Amino acid sequence: MEGLFTLPRKASTSDPLRIAVLISGGGSGLASILAYELLEPRFFHTVLVLADSHEAGGLGHARKAGIDSIGIPLPRIANKKEQRLKHEDLVHEQLKKYNTELIALAGYMRIFTPVFVEKWKGRLINIHPSLLPKYPGAHAHRDALADGAVISGCTVHFVDEGVDTGRIITQSEVPVLTGDNIGDLQNRVKAAEHALYPRTIDAIAKNPGLFIDRQDG
Ligand code: GAR
Repeated sequence: MEGLFTLPRKASTSDPLRIAVLISGGGSGLASILAYELLEPRFFHTVLVLADSHEAGGLGHARKAGIDSIGIPLPRIANKKEQRLKHEDLVHEQLKKYNTELIALAGYMRIFTPVFVEKWKGRLINIHPSLLPKYPGAHAHRDALADGAVISGCTVHFVDEGVDTGRIITQSEVPVLTGDNIGDLQNRVKAAEHALYPRTIDAIAKNPGLFIDRQDG
């Protein structure tokens, strides 16, 4: 059964939306969100940073900013399905403990099961390094280059049960330049992500209905 799509509440700068940022790697996207929050009062506030390992470099950004951060590695369970579900339970438990109102995936490299998605649908967003629906999955830059794309970019979207298939919220384009390798394109796209994601999160927190009405019909 598909879960209900429940948007977060409309927040204010005096009562900002409580967000959790989920990461797996270096967390440059997380750093851009934290930096954006420092500039002026925003409609959201990062209350928790979660990673799927204790080693994720991005956890350091949270620590430096004085924000609670937790690494939750996969539990030692032989059965892969049970392991995945148990891991999601542990993540969910922490998200609830911090009264999370919106989850922002920022380079979180795990795919959630429909069980988890159902609990957070409408309050679970992701940034993907391509102009979706083009190049979903874990190799967006490689796929864009192999396809001879001349424009790429990034997409903020709601997470649904598919892989990078949820409804699109915002997008930002960057050029693909002659001679680009994966690293060149990744860096250019990340710069666009760092501008787009914090602003998009703030806009959702300010007026959650804005990005839904025109697509929901
Ligand atoms: C970002 O480019 C993000 O879009 C991508 O991982 C990178 C994380 O970088 N996410 C995905 O590919 C999700 N499928 P960061 O750790 O430096 O923020």
